[in-house]
Amino acid sequence: MKKYIKGKIKLFKEIVFGRFGMQNDFVGYETLINFIEKNKLHGLEGDFLEIGAFMGGGSAKLARYVDKYSKKLIVIDLFDPNFDSTPNDRDERMNWIYKKILGKKNLRDIFNENTKNEKNIVVYSGDSKKVRLPENTKLCFTFIDGNHDPKYVKNDFYLALHKTIPGGVIAYHDYGGDLPQTTKAIQDMIDENKEKIIKTELVPEKSIIFITLR
Ligand SMILES: C[S@@+](CC[C@H](N)C(=O)[O-])C[C@H]1O[C@@H](n2cnc3c(N)ncnc32)[C@H](O)[C@@H]1O
Repeated sequence: MKKYIKGKIKLFKEIVFGRFGMQNDFVGYETLINFIEKNKLHGLEGDFLEIGAFMGGGSAKLARYVDKYSKKLIVIDLFDPNFDSTPNDRDERMNWIYKKILGKKNLRDIFNENTKNEKNIVVYSGDSKKVRLPENTKLCFTFIDGNHDPKYVKNDFYLALHKTIPGGVIAYHDYGGDLPQTTKAIQDMIDENKEKIIKTELVPEKSIIFITLR
């Protein structure tokens, strides 16, 4: 019950703050930047990938950080708030939540506004199952927070894995949060690929798991 009420309050705040332009980063990208900094991932070869940007407040923070190391941030998002109908454990669907936050505003316009100063962002506006990254893409870090359906959890992992250099990291949002089928799908990815993984590190209060690859 306590978890249910906490979840409702958090969502209510996100809807109000998001709707009135007071929140545009829904994860707290400082957690990603601190991990990258602590593990000196910016020193590795390759660029950064984000799957699932939404309003782009987090994308702007990450792009600004990686620009210091002359790296690009590749962003994949279809900018369609209707697409993901995965329900959370309070039976609220993700597309319902996105539309509540956005109201009548256009998601792509908001993203463009929030990232307009970041010249090192390359956007692939489409379904992550259909996006093909250029052959020569190399990645040192990926953050996956796109579609929460298990099929996409799997697709997005392999999209990143095939381009990630040794020692690089794939991080997921929504591990151990209010989307049990997403958590299970992430765990399945970890178990299926354990020979390719050096270690995992969980930040429970943010529901983020970092997976370091061999
Ligand atoms: C949870 S939001 C991302 C929130 C963002 N990471 C943040 O913390 O501010 C998920 C995003 O994934 C996008 N998305 C949903 N399904 C997708 C798909 N199949 N391919 C690409 N993006 C998708 C949605 O448009 C939405 O913007």
